Amino acid sequence: MKIAVLRERAAGESRVSATPETVKKFIALGASVVVESGAGTGASIGDDDYRTVGAEVVAADAAKDADIVLGIQGPDVGLLTTAKPGALVVAGLDPFGQRDRVDAYAAAGLEALAMEFMPRITRAQSMDILSSQSNLAGYKAVITAANIYGRAFPMMMTAAGTVSAAKAFIMGVGVAGLQAIATARRMGAQVSATDVRSATKEQIQSLGARPIFVESVAGIEGEGAGGYATEMSEEYQKAQAELVSAHIAKQDIVITTALIPGRAAPRLVSDAQIATMKPGSVIFDLAVSQGGNVEGSVADQVVEKHGVKIVGYSNTATHLAADASALFSRNLYNFLSAFWDKEQGKPVLDEEIGKAIRLTQGGKVVNERLLG
Ligand code: NAI
Repeated sequence: MKIAVLRERAAGESRVSATPETVKKFIALGASVVVESGAGTGASIGDDDYRTVGAEVVAADAAKDADIVLGIQGPDVGLLTTAKPGALVVAGLDPFGQRDRVDAYAAAGLEALAMEFMPRITRAQSMDILSSQSNLAGYKAVITAANIYGRAFPMMMTAAGTVSAAKAFIMGVGVAGLQAIATARRMGAQVSATDVRSATKEQIQSLGARPIFVESVAGIEGEGAGGYATEMSEEYQKAQAELVSAHIAKQDIVITTALIPGRAAPRLVSDAQIATMKPGSVIFDLAVSQGGNVEGSVADQVVEKHGVKIVGYSNTATHLAADASALFSRNLYNFLSAFWDKEQGKPVLDEEIGKAIRLTQGGKVVNERLLG
């Protein structure tokens, strides 16, 4: 069983899909591992680090004769022409955004497994790339906003006078939002947060932040399948906009993280609302690559509107490439090793997880979410 680790080709992608730690573990399972030279550079891992744990490092055609190809993002099918027939391609495949590539995997007879489709069930938590990367992204969003902000986060009482604490508002309290709350609190900001899922209220409070919730529209749960948010009614959206308008004008830092699976990110902050904020305030839009929660946000740029700086990275986790790679690689290892069949010397997926993440098989696109 040969596992190939390719160098990522996407612009700005610094992560790598296997670290020396996980390579060593794959070898212990009985696999051989081939790493493309330079694959770890962006995450501060050298070719020799991989050689030391027993990997073969090659300059080109790393996928040759591979049974499994690992990636952070999906490799172009042109890089996989020499892989074994039916080889597994295991990565974050962006199935909706990169549908043509999924079709190309099918046509090439590859079996593509999309790690972002991993079901959110207890036994798959350690395989969940969305959680591991969102957690780091929530942290990085706060750190980046703090860096751009021209004032301090904590209250400071000094001989020259008092510096008041920054007010930070986190919109969307999933994995990234929870980490953003915790990070902003640790840095000394006064933190408030909102979400459409009422279950998050208690989580916000337990982190020492103030929940800001729509109470006027009855019967709101906001929670759909798999713990994800659903799209809200017009009545709710109007009430939410009014509530946010009143609150946002008093904030120095706003971090938005709201996403709805398979749809464009919901618009949470309008230009008119930005105009009510104090000059010098900073907004970080973590949803910028999915359409953005904030009007006017542009990926990888600092846009200034009404004296407010709006930022957002197209790929936030890559800005913490070493940690993000370590966690992503463990997600991949935890997944493949959980299904490793010792006798066959390869992973054999069960029905529940296989059905959820398998995109292509036997020359066809087979995933329900893509066929529907
Ligand atoms: P996400 O990235 O899909 O969305 C981020 C947050 O935005 C969510 O909390 C969502 O409710 C919120 N949101 C959506 N529309 C909004 C709006 N209009 N206004 C305000 N907020 C809005 O969510 P993420 O981080 O992937 O987590 C989703 C859920 O899955 C959470 O309940 C999380 O705890 C759960 N989860 C479960 C796991 C497991 O059991 N294996 C693993 C990871 C997360």
